[in-house]
Amino acid sequence: MTQDNPVSVSREGAVVVLTMRSGPVNALGSALREALRAAFDEAAADPAVSAIVLTGGGRMFSAGADISEFGKPQSGISLPALLDRIESVQKPVVAAIHGNALGGGLETALACHYRVALPSAKVGLPEVKLGILPGAGGTQRLPRIVGPRKALDVIVGGAPIGAKPAAEMGLIDDLAPEDGLVAHAVAFAERVVAEKRPLTRIRDRDDRIAEGRDDPGLFDAFRKENARKLRGFEAPEACIACIEAACRLPFEQGLAFEREQFGKLVSGTQSAAQRHVFFAERQTAKIPDVPEDTAPRPIHKVGVIGAGTMGGGIAMNFLNAGIPVTIVETRQDALDRGLKTIRTNYENTAKKGRLKPEDVETRMGLLTPTLDLEALRDCDLVIEAVFEDMGIKKEIFSKLDRIAKPGAILASNTSYLDIDAIAAMTGRPGDVIGMHFFSPANVMRLLEVVRGEKTEKDVIATAMQLGRKVGKIAVLVGVCHGFVGNRMLAQRQREANRLMLEGVKPWDVDRVIQDFGLPMGPFAMIDLAGLDIGWSRETNKSETVRDLLCELDRRGQKTGAGFYDYDASRKATPSKVTEEIIAKVSGRQGVAQKPASDGEILERCLYPMVNEGAKILEEGKAIRASDIDIVWINGYGWPVYRGGPMFWADTIGLPKVLERLRAYQAEYGDDFKPSALLERLAAEGKGFRDL
Ligand code: CAA
Repeated sequence: MTQDNPVSVSREGAVVVLTMRSGPVNALGSALREALRAAFDEAAADPAVSAIVLTGGGRMFSAGADISEFGKPQSGISLPALLDRIESVQKPVVAAIHGNALGGGLETALACHYRVALPSAKVGLPEVKLGILPGAGGTQRLPRIVGPRKALDVIVGGAPIGAKPAAEMGLIDDLAPEDGLVAHAVAFAERVVAEKRPLTRIRDRDDRIAEGRDDPGLFDAFRKENARKLRGFEAPEACIACIEAACRLPFEQGLAFEREQFGKLVSGTQSAAQRHVFFAERQTAKIPDVPEDTAPRPIHKVGVIGAGTMGGGIAMNFLNAGIPVTIVETRQDALDRGLKTIRTNYENTAKKGRLKPEDVETRMGLLTPTLDLEALRDCDLVIEAVFEDMGIKKEIFSKLDRIAKPGAILASNTSYLDIDAIAAMTGRPGDVIGMHFFSPANVMRLLEVVRGEKTEKDVIATAMQLGRKVGKIAVLVGVCHGFVGNRMLAQRQREANRLMLEGVKPWDVDRVIQDFGLPMGPFAMIDLAGLDIGWSRETNKSETVRDLLCELDRRGQKTGAGFYDYDASRKATPSKVTEEIIAKVSGRQGVAQKPASDGEILERCLYPMVNEGAKILEEGKAIRASDIDIVWINGYGWPVYRGGPMFWADTIGLPKVLERLRAYQAEYGDDFKPSALLERLAAEGKGFRDL
């Protein structure tokens, strides 16, 4: 074998060990598949070989099919054909699994006659998350070994499971000691040979699938239970149908059905969108002028200023990761309230069984409450999370400049304000950065890291890496009003308002946006956040719908009414009062009443967002279009099967988006003026994906 061969071959007595060695994750690309075929052919034909162990070099067994090959013409042997070949070898084949065996990786292991794993290994079929299904026999083999009920959880849920529970399910035959996987697998193979055990092929088993034949209702029950979670996605239903087919059809016919379903999904838009998101998430970490090996500043202790909803949520992220936090408030009652909220949050998680009771105390024990800003003296990172008032923020940063130790990172959680103006209050603007968390900050995955004009590279690297460490997806953005997420949101909010004044009901706007796949529409979102953010009876002048709603104490969900009326369980119903207020305001402003189709509502709310995204790119406030997609998916719940606003625009075609923006511009003016970038890309027949 040459050095480039992605499969290395060694011998342990009469057992051949084949080791996959391809890239960081042993993705089963065409070169690896071909090499495996050759190696299996050779070992199968060699009379001196009694059994074969298949394992992975490097960090894992295999992360599955090479996702970057999807949508391209296939070269070499297909994965299903390779697995057929492995399964039909007339000698015991034992998979030896460490790290991950995911997707096609686990399917490969399922084509082996036995599976041995390290207890630390993880196995799973995450294809559903890429908008596809396990297309190399996974939907047919897994139910035959663990039963259809568990197969539904594993395949439709997509989450990897540990080797120990997998062994309890019968998916793994034996667990090996952490330091001796291959030796254990070789010994296992030798035992199988010595005992002359028959070659068990999963395809021949039908004891476990009897459950699905005896209780065919289990599939519909599963559909019902998961309907909300699966809303809008195509792949989960195809997965369920395949598992149903596994119970109903002979193996070969089931495989053919799986192939057909796989083919449909893999060529569809949802799968393209979900694959885009997979790679986009990983791209966010790459910053052209901040080398990957930039040494981050050590962060052993974090300070948070403000114990309100945001400050408390932010603090929890670090406590969860075992990093001590000092939290500062100006008044004792506010501090006590903040601490109580954090504790209650942990206790509720513990009640649900997702946190050990003793961990509540461990985490609270890492938290130091104080009224004294000076206590932040020994923090390596301080995050300011007070309300959005530039005056107060400036004052805090000039104090921090005096208090914080040299080299400490000074961050603001502002969602709109100018980080450079804040940084200018200090003698160390290079240490200042924005870390914009999304509410609830301990839950939402997005972190916008805002790079100021003078922010040092190692400060950027630290914020990005720390974000990942506490489980966030960190996206680097530039200074502008509202950064990426809220700047685009403002476009949608403005147009939703305009539609409302033209007589389109708020609940119709919300319905269209929700049907599109977002968790809630613009008006439901305002009701949730509170209509009175930035509103006061003294300064606001009874001019807007919001002013009038607030004056009636309709301040959103928290007061039981906003745009909607809410019952005790916060269920929303359309409100007559709101309708009357809207009619009054639009009458006063002389807004012409005109109905809008659902299609128009969608275009008018979302195309200006896409256009704003293009402006953000033009101005260099986001590094790449896919970063904007990641912001919207993780910060606002944009449906992952639509790939984010910029990817979605590409699927529509930029000439069409441009043409509609121009039409609305003619009617409503420059709020719809197409950006130069959009014009250029459309003219060149390109998309945001080509940037
Ligand atoms: N195909 C191609 N590239 C892959 C890949 C795959 N299946 N899995 C990971 N990679 C790439 C990543 O893009 C990344 O590339 P860059 O370094 O260039 O960014 C690199 O490998 C390392 O990956 P991660 O940064 O994600 O590494 P990690 O250690 O954090 O995570 C992992 C490892 C858990 C395996 C994770 O990579 C993962 O979840 N991979 C995808 C698993 C998956 O979905 N498999 C199903 C594939 S579809 C299939 O198999 C279909 C079928 O049935 C035939």
